[in-house]
Amino acid sequence: MRILLLGFGTVGQGFAKLISEAGLELLGSYGIRPRIVAVADRGGAAVNLRGLDVEKLLQTKRKAGTVAAYPDHGKPGVSGLKLVEEVPGEVVVEVTPTNIRDGEPGLSHIMAALKAGKHVVTANKGPMALAFQALMELAEYNRVTLRFSGCVGGGTPILDFAGKCLVGDRITSIKGILNGTTNYILTRMTDAKLSFDEALKEAQALGYAEADPAMDVDGWDSACKLVILANWVLERKVRLEDVEVKGIRNITPEEIEDALKRKSHVKLIAYADQDTLRVSPELIPLGHPLCVSGVLNAVCFTSQYAGEETVVGKGAGGAETASAILRDLINIKQAASR
Ligand SMILES: NC(=O)c1ccc[n+]([C@@H]2O[C@H](COP(=O)([O-])OP(=O)(O)OC[C@H]3O[C@@H](n4cnc5c(N)ncnc54)[C@H](OP(=O)(O)O)[C@@H]3O)[C@@H](O)[C@H]2O)c1
Repeated sequence: MRILLLGFGTVGQGFAKLISEAGLELLGSYGIRPRIVAVADRGGAAVNLRGLDVEKLLQTKRKAGTVAAYPDHGKPGVSGLKLVEEVPGEVVVEVTPTNIRDGEPGLSHIMAALKAGKHVVTANKGPMALAFQALMELAEYNRVTLRFSGCVGGGTPILDFAGKCLVGDRITSIKGILNGTTNYILTRMTDAKLSFDEALKEAQALGYAEADPAMDVDGWDSACKLVILANWVLERKVRLEDVEVKGIRNITPEEIEDALKRKSHVKLIAYADQDTLRVSPELIPLGHPLCVSGVLNAVCFTSQYAGEETVVGKGAGGAETASAILRDLINIKQAASR
């Protein structure tokens, strides 16, 4: 399986390490031998149709800051789009930064890959939240597969749980904590009585929050994930602009105290059913399966027959998200051999 890897940051590097470490086991257990034949970052690309050496890629990135400095096979200035169009391969793994304004560069990468007859695995929420239906239709038209498990829940198999474990049932609503950063901030406001600003600073110092925390604290990261869940699980045809979004920036210590008096915690909750699509702070009673702490994510699916089922896990991380990408690759291989 020849792979073109677009983006070589936390997730891209985590994925390269994972397939390099899992090598023989993947062949023995699943009959796949993933080989990275091209990688792109902002500085350019590295291409070797026989396969790039992962250790050398990591070393090059560490020392030179770009994979384009890869010995003998580096291509400074060559874009990810050009790789997709010109380098042969079966799968494009798209892990460039999320952009919710226009989905770029991920949207163009994914569209070009599908048009070129390449399967796509992505953890990039932007293109999926802005153009879910169009991308799925494009994949179907070109008879290739588009998978996106890493977009929701990092390595926690939230989409897989809904798609596979509840097969035969009908999921009627989804309610959950889809963003670990805001959950960390609200947890610290509750447990350590910090103000929002203090908790945010702490989250930034620990690397849980970005220097610009708007995507997380204003609710847009959760909203992107909710749109993906609503399309995939509830079969709704919705986009990011359809979500009613309210973040946690204005939550005060008084509101946190008030929640505690009611034996509840304030959580940033994403909710979807056939009529509603909303992200907003809500009170969750102590002891409820969604009342999880720290950076955890938790999603509760209500279905017609099974009732309420909750999946809990770490919602981000390079290695964790890489494991979701690997699951998607294995699924693509299994679907192709049926
Ligand atoms: N980190 C997580 O825990 C996590 C979890 C779930 C989903 N995700 C999603 O996965 C994606 C990647 O996340 P990350 O944490 O790995 O981000 P990251 O560390 O910022 O890495 C992004 C990579 O994309 C490259 N890039 C940026 N623009 C590009 C372009 N035009 N062409 C080619 N490459 C380009 C960057 O190049 P440079 O290295 O040259 O800057 C970098 O290598 C994001 O969409 C994110 O939302 C991340």
